[in-house]
Amino acid sequence: MSKRFYITTPIYYVNGAPHVGSATTTLLADAATRYRRLRGENPYFLTGTDEHAQKVADAAREAGTNPQTFVDQVSRRFVETWRRLGCDYDRFIRTTDADHQAVVQEVFRRLEARGDVYRGTYEGWYSVSDEAFYRDTDVDENGIVRETGAKVERVREDVHYFRLSAYGERLKAHILAHPDFLLPETRRNEVLAFIDQGLRDIAISRRSTGWGIPVPGDPSKVIYVWFDALINYLTATGWPNDAGYTNLWPCDAHLMAKEIYTRFHATLWPAMLLALDLPLPRHVIGHGWWTVSGEKGSKSRGNIPRAEDMIALLQERSGAPEPICVDALRYYLLRDIQFASDTEFSPDILVGRYNADLANDLGNVLNRVLRAKYFPGRIPEPRSNGDAPLALVARETIATYEAALEAVNWGEALAAVWQLLGATNKYLAETQPWILAKNGQAEAVAHVLYDTLEATRLAAYLVSPAMPSVAAEMARQLGLSNFAADGSWAEHARWGVLVPDSPTGDATPLFPRIDTKMAVAAGPAEAKPTKLAKEAPHHVNETSAATPATLTTDHRPPATDTITIDDFARVQLRIADIVSAEAIPGAKKLLRLQIRVGDGDERQLVAGIAESYAPDDLPGKKIVVVANLQPATIRGVQSQGMLLAATDEAGRAILLTPEQSVPAGSRVK
Ligand code: MSP
Repeated sequence: MSKRFYITTPIYYVNGAPHVGSATTTLLADAATRYRRLRGENPYFLTGTDEHAQKVADAAREAGTNPQTFVDQVSRRFVETWRRLGCDYDRFIRTTDADHQAVVQEVFRRLEARGDVYRGTYEGWYSVSDEAFYRDTDVDENGIVRETGAKVERVREDVHYFRLSAYGERLKAHILAHPDFLLPETRRNEVLAFIDQGLRDIAISRRSTGWGIPVPGDPSKVIYVWFDALINYLTATGWPNDAGYTNLWPCDAHLMAKEIYTRFHATLWPAMLLALDLPLPRHVIGHGWWTVSGEKGSKSRGNIPRAEDMIALLQERSGAPEPICVDALRYYLLRDIQFASDTEFSPDILVGRYNADLANDLGNVLNRVLRAKYFPGRIPEPRSNGDAPLALVARETIATYEAALEAVNWGEALAAVWQLLGATNKYLAETQPWILAKNGQAEAVAHVLYDTLEATRLAAYLVSPAMPSVAAEMARQLGLSNFAADGSWAEHARWGVLVPDSPTGDATPLFPRIDTKMAVAAGPAEAKPTKLAKEAPHHVNETSAATPATLTTDHRPPATDTITIDDFARVQLRIADIVSAEAIPGAKKLLRLQIRVGDGDERQLVAGIAESYAPDDLPGKKIVVVANLQPATIRGVQSQGMLLAATDEAGRAILLTPEQSVPAGSRVK
């Protein structure tokens, strides 16, 4: 059997139920696994629970149960949540599993035999919430760990040490020789700096309180929870008894968030592997955190919702079936989590992504074409394939997507797919097949429709690892059987797969739009209508969203009402490309625009310019937008920003556009 693509998540502490943070890492691994299946790489996906922590035993005590009953219950909640989210792992490992306990003891014995584990006394700090030992310099005068904010307690006990200090140089040499071992680069630099400070031997046993894996030959002690937990990645391979462990080991990608990266996954774990004479993992990948009001979302703080709550919210607000809502949540978590920085989690952004990216961009193209009066109900015949403008964009999308997924970066991969969808919407708006059809240009109509459907097929194929149910439904509507995970990547990740004259399925809208009026009305984003807003006809004066007076060119503020340069600097003006535009039913002055404000930043914007511009005139235009305006809901449509326009004497809006072409995202000041 050949080497399988082996990917892992952290094993989660069972001191509380999973939330959208733990879900994110599990989804990154699930989507990566599904992608590798498309590529025929026979992936193996490992996740599980970390059950021997002191904080787990404490939580059991608080719940009034014994630790084993407690961990059985909480571990089951992780299994249930992952099932609900469609996470299709190969093994759910628990550190209380018998095979794992045996492997941990075996590692301990081997390292002791080679002199890398020795006895000593530990006197210093221990943080139960971090489950980590700290030195004096890590802790402030109030007993708080500077880096993590966790409380510590003083401990003094006889322990076993692991000779971590012996491996710093070899580890550093490996990191330098393998630039993509530690990802992203910022974390690699952190690890190098950490090693340069000098790695110190680390205590790997603790006094037994009856919960944990006993130290071989010394049952008065248990093995330190991190030493125990990291070994799970090896246990799942069958090492050391099953010679087939090399089908999995070395691991291809260990995924986790940043707090357990440097100290545990990028130094302690590789050093343990070096001591066992085992090869090091290919990639160790750390992503940032979801934060809530700037603070890390965590089980113990209870400040971040559970995935189930977010699915319920989407179901309630959209009326879409559960699998579609699950996929919408998967999409948001995969698309927005950042690798080099943190991201603020917000249900409003989830809803915004649902409406703009899914209902508008993804769902709409397919629906528009399949339900068009002039669509023949079968895949039309294109004039030629390879040189279509969308074929070129598709090629770029595939290349970016593949490169991003080497580092499991779903945000970048999905942004590339949305580039293709943006180009497809623009292509439809520019070629205007409805006019071609009216003029009887059947061949041209067929060509446009083929390209549009083919781009949509490719987009559906590429999003299938992230949104399996959505992709399956899109495949059905396109008249295809579901995208098979049979390793036929090369046959499908290319242009020109749809077969002319094959029948399509019936089209039903995938994502019923969510009315955001209620949500925003309760929030701070909604400003009261102002007199000034009413006086500026080209802005959104049909609505209750205010237009900041300083930005309307037809209204000069009184001389006393000046602002400082710092005030002005708070307004982020940027160049944006209009991707598509459409009327908003029942709002005769408003248009809904899809705009791109730089790479990966696509948004929806509502503008009061319908009386001055026809929707078809707008795609491709460059405009200036206020990029950091609080989102507002205008006639039930979310608007993430505002465009700038002058007003002429007749009251018509005149868009401000750059005098020469500059890329979307460029700052205007
Ligand atoms: N048990 C250890 C891991 C041992 S691995 C050998 C542990 N468990 S944990 O329950 O605290 O899970 C931490 C992991 O959950 C993070 O590294 C990350 O994968 C995920 N997340 C937890 N909170 C998160 C956010 N707020 N944001 C993003 N990911 C989050 O540490």
